[in-house]
Amino acid sequence: MSVVSPSPASLSPDAVTANFEEEYEASVNPQWVRLLRLLQMNVRYARCAGVELFTGDGNRVLDFLSGYCVHNLGHNHPAILQAIKDELDRCGPAMLQSHVPERAGELATRLCQSAGGNLTKVFFCSSGSEGIEAAIKFARAHTRRNGLLYTEGAFHGLTCGALSLMGDAFWKTDFGPLLPETDQIRFNHLSDLEEKLKTRNYAVFFVEPIQGEGGIRASSAEYLKQARELCERYGTLLVFDEVQTGFCRTGPFLAAHHYSVNAHGRPGKSDERRPHPERCCAHAGRYLQIGLRLLQAVLDSYFHVLRKRPRDASRIGCSRYARARETGRARHHSRRLHAPETARGTG
Ligand SMILES: Cc1ncc(COP(=O)(O)O)c(C=O)c1O
Repeated sequence: MSVVSPSPASLSPDAVTANFEEEYEASVNPQWVRLLRLLQMNVRYARCAGVELFTGDGNRVLDFLSGYCVHNLGHNHPAILQAIKDELDRCGPAMLQSHVPERAGELATRLCQSAGGNLTKVFFCSSGSEGIEAAIKFARAHTRRNGLLYTEGAFHGLTCGALSLMGDAFWKTDFGPLLPETDQIRFNHLSDLEEKLKTRNYAVFFVEPIQGEGGIRASSAEYLKQARELCERYGTLLVFDEVQTGFCRTGPFLAAHHYSVNAHGRPGKSDERRPHPERCCAHAGRYLQIGLRLLQAVLDSYFHVLRKRPRDASRIGCSRYARARETGRARHHSRRLHAPETARGTG
């Protein structure tokens, strides 16, 4: 068997067909191309590095969007690229459910340790919406209840289950009927939460510690703490959706850590029929959507960069650094950015 590697030429920008926009319009999404043109955003990028995007005609664009929170370490971080290249050169296995992935267990352990508390299991999936779907299923199976509770302004994803938990009707119109027995309460209102939880109908309460799409609205410190206590009291599981806040994007590993609330707490007396919120709280984090094999490969580099190189990370941190560069204050700024906590915050 011979191994065929793609020739660099086939991957170069020159290999892109001249009418790639028309092809995209015809075969993918014409509205999207129209919108990008309208917003003057249909720029062709030749190279992306860190927070900078370089166009073919020599312009440099600062990326304040960060792929809607996907580029947690900036574009094409050299350490991440090297780890991916090494893994590809190794020609290792990339199979589904046919062997125990070599480093997935280690990755899961490190994620649990970083999340803190009593989290002991990780469910790997490829999008935030999938994480929410899994949380719905786990919670319903575990509590044997149907009800799903979410907050006004929530954004949890675009699959049918996740859509059922979206605060804004805009996202749901034309896609119904969605999941039954879902209820919305006001964000940051404990009385609303307790009133619903008292019915003991709810399997799970989904909340973003800091709402992203809802307008960067942060929970009050009291809200998350009390929400957790109330959920424990009424046997409802508490899920923190941290897909948007990601890993270290707000400073600590998870945004919930700002509030000293995480999926921890001493397990109560063992009663397997009752939910253990401290074991079942879930955090969903989206960072590198490149599949488990490559995710494993970049494991060390990712954690290293996340911890040691705050300047490279995240829309919030990057944006501030980028702004400082533009105003000639980069050296001063980079001295101040010696810890992620100084670069970011809850808002
Ligand atoms: C808070 C939150 N949850 C879930 C999702 C859905 O994630 P995905 O687009 O990866 O399915 C998003 C997407 O932006 C989000 O912001």
